[in-house]
Amino acid sequence: MSQAVDEIKIGGIGASRKRVEDNRFIRGKGNYTDDIVLPGMLHMEILRSPLAHARIKSIDASKAWDIPGVHLVLTGEMMATRNLAWMPTLSYDTQAVLATDKVRFQGQEVACVIADDPYIAKDACEAIVVDYEPLPAIVNPWQAVADGAPVIRDDKENQPDNIIYNWEVGDRDGTERAFASADLVSKLELHYPRSHPSPIECCGSIADFNRATSKLTVYMTTQAPHIIRAAVAMVAELPEHMIRIISPDIGGGFGNKVPVYPGYVCSILASILLERPVKWIEDKSGNLISTGFARDVYLTGEMALRKDGKILAVRMHTDADHGAFFSDAQPSKFKIGLMHSAFAAYDIPVAHLTARGTYSNKAPGGVAYRCSFRVTEAMFFQERMVQAAATDLGMDQAAFRRMNFVRDDQFPHRTPFGFLLDSGQYGKCLDVGLKAIDYDNFRQQQEEARSRGRLLGLGISTMTEPLGAGNSREYDILGIKMFDSADLKVHMTGKAIVRTGARGQGQGHETTWAQIVSHELGIPADDIVVEEGDTDTAPFGMGTYASRSTPVAGAAVAMVARKIRAKARKLAAHLLEVSEEDVEWELGRFYVRSAPDHGVTIQECAIAAYSNMPDGMEPGLQNTAFYDPPNLTWPFAVYIVTVEVDPETGVWDVLKMVAVDDCGVRINPMIVEGQIMGGLTEAYAMSNMQFMTFDADGNCVGANYMDYLLPTAWETPGFELHSEVVTPCPHHPIGAKGIGECAAVGGPAAFVNAVIDALTGTGVRNIDMPLLPDRVWEAITYRRDISGAPPVRADD
Ligand code: CDP
Repeated sequence: MSQAVDEIKIGGIGASRKRVEDNRFIRGKGNYTDDIVLPGMLHMEILRSPLAHARIKSIDASKAWDIPGVHLVLTGEMMATRNLAWMPTLSYDTQAVLATDKVRFQGQEVACVIADDPYIAKDACEAIVVDYEPLPAIVNPWQAVADGAPVIRDDKENQPDNIIYNWEVGDRDGTERAFASADLVSKLELHYPRSHPSPIECCGSIADFNRATSKLTVYMTTQAPHIIRAAVAMVAELPEHMIRIISPDIGGGFGNKVPVYPGYVCSILASILLERPVKWIEDKSGNLISTGFARDVYLTGEMALRKDGKILAVRMHTDADHGAFFSDAQPSKFKIGLMHSAFAAYDIPVAHLTARGTYSNKAPGGVAYRCSFRVTEAMFFQERMVQAAATDLGMDQAAFRRMNFVRDDQFPHRTPFGFLLDSGQYGKCLDVGLKAIDYDNFRQQQEEARSRGRLLGLGISTMTEPLGAGNSREYDILGIKMFDSADLKVHMTGKAIVRTGARGQGQGHETTWAQIVSHELGIPADDIVVEEGDTDTAPFGMGTYASRSTPVAGAAVAMVARKIRAKARKLAAHLLEVSEEDVEWELGRFYVRSAPDHGVTIQECAIAAYSNMPDGMEPGLQNTAFYDPPNLTWPFAVYIVTVEVDPETGVWDVLKMVAVDDCGVRINPMIVEGQIMGGLTEAYAMSNMQFMTFDADGNCVGANYMDYLLPTAWETPGFELHSEVVTPCPHHPIGAKGIGECAAVGGPAAFVNAVIDALTGTGVRNIDMPLLPDRVWEAITYRRDISGAPPVRADD
């Protein structure tokens, strides 16, 4: 009779354990960067450019220096004397810390003031006089490559134009041949607009340089503390062991808190110069206008089809607007991130993707907003294209998908772009979704409604996302290979602490990492504390973004727990006075194979590690594991939405939405559901209410929360979640795949597909997001596609 502990009762894998971090969050006891107050702390504010493109003729900061309470005014000229006017980006480009020659986007950092309090610093910023000579602004890729276009990056040698890269992947010739043999070629063209992660907490830092110890401590809102430490060591030329990055509680990141921002660098320099702590907390407009935007890609593509519905080939082209500096945080090998994960879920023999990146007079973009390096754009295009192709063929949307899916017996499956899909049950997920939405019945209702002038629509979107970069062979950031590690220390009383180099921003790592240890060792999750975010105590890790934490850091947690168990087994054999080979494990306990009642608990092994270890054994029970994943994990999802569109106003309402997510083994089902709901909410917002664009002069229109709307519970529809499909990841130690981003990645196409489906018969093929009522109304009324691309100047 087993005496194993009950895994669900102790809060192991599969338990919907309440999030331990919420105890402090919902009581208002979180410790965010802005909550930290250090003795003698000064405050920094940033002066930003009002113009998108202008030459700086002069900067006069004399009046700012004269204001009582001002300690320092930093300008680009001063930064340049310390070789800090420019810094490297995570994509091997350079970015101005404070502008010297030109400003290249509206909101660019021009000067900083450090003062006794933020109000004095803000007033002093306004006292700085900058003489600008305006230059024509470039706001889209077509202007960027036009003859005679002003060269935005004239600071760079060997940069005669505004093109950053031309990149391609796949088989050009094979794709040509497949297209030549097609019965039908379906085409689509769309713009995935700029969007902003807009976390509730803005970016910020407190730099504290201690001259006596030569140590620099920086509290900051970063999703990747170890990468930041490496970057600071490189930029500031400080020794790495003298830099401590502490990322306290973070109020949402979504990719916005991965890059290195000029504010961080300036606060560090100011602290070194003044030998006092310097705090910089960005305001909301600063965050919206100048920090990492996402998307802004123009996608065109064609699908070669056989008349029975088989997809023969895909051709895709992307024009990516990167803003003034190419600062994407992404593996250096892939210039347009993982855009080539498009169409991975479909069994397509051959494909070809080209991508061109250009500079523009916008804040640097390319942040993977709740997305694994451009996968959102890839999946959006994929599912919009699949809908267009099915429509062109006159085929049922669901049947067309099912026919072309990678089948269950085809895994592991190599995509035409070279990825290796691990596992999945795509057809089953679709079946669950169709049943939940009552597909056939809805199609009938839709027909009937149409005969009465009502516009109902149904949109399907599927997604598979490559999560868990790396492996280290292919994935790196700034040449640093992508892997993760975990430290586990089991104290003599059997309580434990686990640390990783990941850094959650609300995802619940403090809860789920403990659950993994419980699953491996049988220690109750409540007896395990999780710590992340301090480079002096956490082991090395690449941080939390691209839903990589569970696939990589979570795997490292499982692996280190297994190392602990291996040592505990030796201790158990010693305590039980048998050889190690005679010892069996069940959750929480070792026992003698021939006498199952004769056993010791993991807690008894822990105390023995400090008080009764065998001769020659190193005392203690702690270890570290580095985990370099053999492959990415590939979760899959089906999202189906039904909508009703009001033809008189263009307003559309969600009638029902169902989500079927297969992320392998769910560590904490409740947290997984929370991740899916959050992602669907963001997807809904992107599809219909987040409007941020640029006018012809490069002014950022929508850099406020009146235009760029964050959905509340009031406008967010209900979601019906399904968890019955579980395909464990074959190479992950506990079979888990990532989930954090899936719904935000796959969700937008479901909403747009539903609205386009409702307009069947009007000839409207595409409306670019956000599907604001006026755009939908215009599409219905004038029976035309609506492009959301930014305007060009009248003289273009
Ligand atoms: O990297 P990030 O934490 O943003 O994403 P993730 O690894 O997908 O995890 C998001 C949250 O969901 C974490 O608390 C995970 O441990 C949890 N999760 C889970 O419980 N089961 C899974 N199969 C995947 C994630």
